[in-house]
Amino acid sequence: MSERPRKTPEQLRSYRYFGPDDLRSFGHRSRQKQAGFATEEFKDKPVIGILNTWNDLISCHAHFRQRAEDVKRGVWQAGGFPVEIPVMGLSETFMKPTSMYYRNLLAMETEETLRTYPLDAVILMGGCDKTTPAMLMGARSVDIPSIFMPGGPMSRTSWRGEPLGSGSDVWKYWDQRGAGRLSCEAWCELEDHIAASPGHCMTMGTASTMTAIAETMGLCLPGSSSVPATHSSHSRMASATGSRAVELAWLDIKPSEFMTPESFDNAITALMAIGGSTNAIVHLMALAGRAEVPLTLERFDEISQKTPVVGNLRPAGKYVMADLFDAGGLQGLLHRIGDLLNLDCPNVAGTTLGEAIEGAEVYDEDVIRPRSNPLSESSSLAVLRGNLAPDGCVIKPPAAEKHLLQHRGPAAVFKNYPDLKARIHDPAMGLTANHVIVLQNAGPLGAPGIPEWGMLPIPKYLLEQGVTDMVRISDARMSGTSYGACVLHVAPESFVGGPLAFVQDGDMIRLDVAGRQIELEISDEELASRRSGWTQPENKFTRGYGKLYFEQTTQANLGCDFRFLHADGSKDKDPEIN
Ligand code: FES
Ligand code: MG
Repeated sequence: MSERPRKTPEQLRSYRYFGPDDLRSFGHRSRQKQAGFATEEFKDKPVIGILNTWNDLISCHAHFRQRAEDVKRGVWQAGGFPVEIPVMGLSETFMKPTSMYYRNLLAMETEETLRTYPLDAVILMGGCDKTTPAMLMGARSVDIPSIFMPGGPMSRTSWRGEPLGSGSDVWKYWDQRGAGRLSCEAWCELEDHIAASPGHCMTMGTASTMTAIAETMGLCLPGSSSVPATHSSHSRMASATGSRAVELAWLDIKPSEFMTPESFDNAITALMAIGGSTNAIVHLMALAGRAEVPLTLERFDEISQKTPVVGNLRPAGKYVMADLFDAGGLQGLLHRIGDLLNLDCPNVAGTTLGEAIEGAEVYDEDVIRPRSNPLSESSSLAVLRGNLAPDGCVIKPPAAEKHLLQHRGPAAVFKNYPDLKARIHDPAMGLTANHVIVLQNAGPLGAPGIPEWGMLPIPKYLLEQGVTDMVRISDARMSGTSYGACVLHVAPESFVGGPLAFVQDGDMIRLDVAGRQIELEISDEELASRRSGWTQPENKFTRGYGKLYFEQTTQANLGCDFRFLHADGSKDKDPEIN
């Protein structure tokens, strides 16, 4: 990669804005001077965009204003001209109905921001769940030189002597409170400790999973995704990311070079080895659509079956991201499974994946397990099919109680989320641990936004009896920090008439994870007859983003991208800019 021809200043994309002796360029130059920059500060330099997903409601990115300054420092030092551009911060915690509903909007904002501005390369500052896939999707579609800056996980934290994990422990202690084992005061005290620093969730939830995937695919600097947000290394990594972006601009190194079938395989292998989030499946399908890389759910299952889980990380395992960093980071972990990776895949640093992990060491054999003693031999995630999910669904077996991976039980059906909330804890329902809890209309269109409702609550009266897991099925997603025998992303979803819509109380459902099967034990005739009496619920939106979302969103097995964005956007010519 180092032998690539370097662009001349006249070949830079920004030259047409700043270089020529014409009326438009006069305007552009004079406006940079309005901003306080002298000609020599920006002339003949690559213009490096810094897309910053900071806002006051995305607390995971609370350090991003300072990090943007660190990035700028690196850009200046490498001879570039940094311009910071705020873009929509997708706050996992605050957005309703769910940040996922807006992933494609940030992807579009990223794409169009890169397209319209005089940028020669861009740094994408993301981390909190959907920000990472959204920005990568947008960057791939416009395909100008891009580098991702992972926001880094939160610091370790503990409460009453116990280490805490984002999300995972919230659910655990909430269940304990529900079962009367945790006082109101203790629960409130937990609030002060569960998120104790800037940075994204520090378990192997969606944020840590997607940044690890970005690194594995070569889209950020090697080693960068494991660096805790508050570690001084994070500032230095940000600066180095800025400097590298300047080189990417001169060398015209684009995301399309990193998003290949081989690197998607690497991403999926890493996803399985870290015991990552089910959400990554949806995001990778969307990203593959943008890159026109053929990818199916079956590929996830194939790779899952041959990849051991060596990352002992919550929620499937024991540790948090700071422990992974101390144990050798993602590089140490990938080194462990190097034989399962395509090591020739390039990265933004100008090396290969093989070179990036060469010599990486593991300093804690319990955090990054040896191949001889993995957390699980295989099947970090499993893709199931059957008459209940003809287009597939997903389960995370290591996060479920083992005895439930083969299960047959009667359905208890809730027709939507409000129905679930209203009735699930009512002892008159008479549910037992053997029941299969089914939630309908929680999918991409039905909810909308395929929210993280998939870890359906276990009835309080069963929690009190000591039940800790049940088979639960929905067309929703589940937070990457969640756990349990939750069957997710059922496709097609019930809102569009998938078979999930026709399940009735008492129907027997059979789950066979080893056989990758999920069956509703009713006849085809009965299913057809229930379907004939069904009408699709009404679309909730008649205008605005909601209307666009309803008309364009694909099902979970296709990534929930907008149909009109599902292609390699870089094949379109830039519209002429006056
Ligand atoms: Fe931001 Fe979990 S809430 S990553
Ligand atoms: Mg999440």
